[in-house]
Formats: sequence, C-alpha cells, structure tokens
Amino acid sequence: VDSILAETLEASRSLTVELCPPILHQSGLAAALNWLGARMEEKQQFKVRLRTSNDAEPASPHAPAFLFEATREMLLNCAKHSGTREAHLTMVRTKDDSCRIIVEDKGKGFEPSAARPGPSGGFGLFSIQQRLLDLGGKLEIESAPGHGTKAA
Ligand SMILES: Nc1ncnc2c1ncn2[C@@H]1O[C@H](COP(=O)(O)OP(=O)(O)OP(=O)(O)O)[C@@H](O)[C@H]1O
Ligand SMILES: [Mg+2]
Repeated sequence: VDSILAETLEASRSLTVELCPPILHQSGLAAALNWLGARMEEKQQFKVRLRTSNDAEPASPHAPAFLFEATREMLLNCAKHSGTREAHLTMVRTKDDSCRIIVEDKGKGFEPSAARPGPSGGFGLFSIQQRLLDLGGKLEIESAPGHGTKAA
C-alpha cells in the first residue's frame, strides 16, 4: 500500500508541475515557456522556437498562470494535429500594454469555423476562448487546410 501511495503522490505531483510549474512563480512566464519548450522537445520530440521580448511579462497577477496553460494547449495542438515537429512561439508587449502570445506552425492547418467542441473532445480552444472573455483578452486563430496555423 505504501508504494502505491508513493507512486500516486509522485504522479499527482508531477502533473501539478506540468500544469503549473514552480518556475512560473519564481522566474516568470518567459522562463516557464522556455522550460515547457525544452520539455516538449525531450518528451515529444517537438521543437519550440521561442522569441520573447524583455518587456513582455504580463502585469496582471492572474495572467501568467492562465497564459501558461493556454499557450501549453496551443503548443500541444501543434504537436497533436499539425503533422509537423516544430512551432514558433512569440511573446511581445503590444502598443496598448497587453501581453500577446503567438503560436505558429507550418503544418496541415484546419478550418477554424468548423472546429466545435464535440463528444470526442475539442474543448481546448473553446475553453481558452471562454476564459479569455472573462479576462478581457481574445483568441485569434488564422488557419486554413494546407496553410498552417497561427493562434494568438
Ligand atoms: N495547430 C493545429 N494544426 C491543425 N489542426 C489543429 C491545430 N490546432 C487545432 N486544430 C484542429 O482544431 C480542433 C480543435 O482543437 P481543440 O484544441 O479545441 O481540440 P482537441 O485538441 O481536438 O481536443 P482537446 O484540446 O479537448 O484535447 C482539433 O481537433 C484539430 O482538428
Ligand atoms: Mg487541443
């Protein structure tokens, strides 16, 4: 029983780290996204090419955790659906002082208006969109079959 318990604790701890890594609180969003990229390369052989500007860290206290989770979902989508093994991730500060994150792949793309939640999943983009409504942000998807995907 002890070893089962230990294993369960270890599994739930590593899931917590995965969803909300300590580095996010210690070093900020750019560092956490860098960590995530390294991890995806190691675990999934998926390369994340990261470019962040120094002034891009979000100012609002709840933004980093949400933005980390949302960016992670967009990168996982690239790894799962694009058919390529790399994506570009850019984090910049906009003129109106917001933090803008762009995730881009040159993979197979899709028809954004046709992507709706359904019985077999498809809640990733929908839930980002819903939560952004509350936070005052927005999700923009540019994609077309055969033309890659850009999510910002
Ligand atoms: N980068 C991408 N390249 C190609 N297709 C994509 C990409 N991102 C999303 N899609 C398409 O949009 C659909 C909806 O994405 P979404 O993240 O909402 O759902 P999902 O990834 O299928 O499931 P879930 O996120 O709930 O595990 C996907 O099933 C896929 O067909
Ligand atoms: Mg998804």
